[in-house]
Amino acid sequence: MKTIDRSSFKGRDFISLHDFSQEELNCFLEVAHELKAEQKAGHPHPILQGKTLGMIFTKSSTRTRVSFEVGIYQLGGQGLFLSGRDIQLGRGETIADTARVLSRMVDGIMIRTFSHQEVLDLAKYATIPIINGLTDLLHPCQVLADLMTIQEHKGRLAGLKLAYVGDGNNMAHSLMFGGAKMGLHVVIASPSGYKPDPAIVTLAQEDAKANGGFVEVIDDPSEAVKGADVLYTDVWASMGQEAEASERMKAFQGYQISSESLKLAQPSAIVLHCLPAHRGEEITDEVIEGAQSVVFDEAENRLHAQKAIMALVM
Ligand code: CP
Ligand code: NVA
Repeated sequence: MKTIDRSSFKGRDFISLHDFSQEELNCFLEVAHELKAEQKAGHPHPILQGKTLGMIFTKSSTRTRVSFEVGIYQLGGQGLFLSGRDIQLGRGETIADTARVLSRMVDGIMIRTFSHQEVLDLAKYATIPIINGLTDLLHPCQVLADLMTIQEHKGRLAGLKLAYVGDGNNMAHSLMFGGAKMGLHVVIASPSGYKPDPAIVTLAQEDAKANGGFVEVIDDPSEAVKGADVLYTDVWASMGQEAEASERMKAFQGYQISSESLKLAQPSAIVLHCLPAHRGEEITDEVIEGAQSVVFDEAENRLHAQKAIMALVM
């Protein structure tokens, strides 16, 4: 494996896993494991002392907000929570102006918002690194933490089968991108009308081909989970889709991770969910609370994975 000069990430944006090579993603993961071990050992690591991260949120968050704020603090810096409702962006100030103003004051920006284009525009006008904390299209920070969690529990990534059952949403997209780059077999099972974006599928399939992975999209959830090493699901209605919730509830019947799914998967399979979860919908209470569920390790790893992102790009 090629070794990457860690200083080469400085100033880069973290917007999509598709933008990074397998070697680069491995480097983020290595740093994440190192920082986790240091934190567990009680060794301080103030490598971003004096630096500030602006955190723009136009959608709700528990994990992303807390992990970035605690993460920058543990790295010796300071996080600044900027609610989309309170800053002038919410009153119509442009993304371009916001980007240029914040670039004069902070050292990095994390943004969680609806439109992916808004994040691309922020990155275009900012002179500091932009980190994507979730858009309607992608959730790359979550998948970096997911890959880290899979490594911890399975000891490897390449060659594993990851089955995602449910909505072809931001999570499905980033899992395809991350899985493809790391050589996993990613299978997405979604009902018709809720399949992942074909443009993302094509890019992920190209990435998979170049990196020893395999990406496919199918209809049948039972077929997807058969022999899988990792089972993954996410809510049927994402943030911003609240009005479609009842229609989606019907469309997604059967697209659930249950004890029946576990019977078809590898006996050693692990279950992931980005959270928040809707028990009884995309996952049963029994499975999420069961022995094969690693969802709270996964949630914790948001902290370590994002510390790695900040430590490398800021
Ligand atoms: N998984 C995740 O991003 O959680 P939050 O919405 O709580 O940030
Ligand atoms: N797909 C979900 C993920 C939440 C972390 C959403 O966008 O609401």
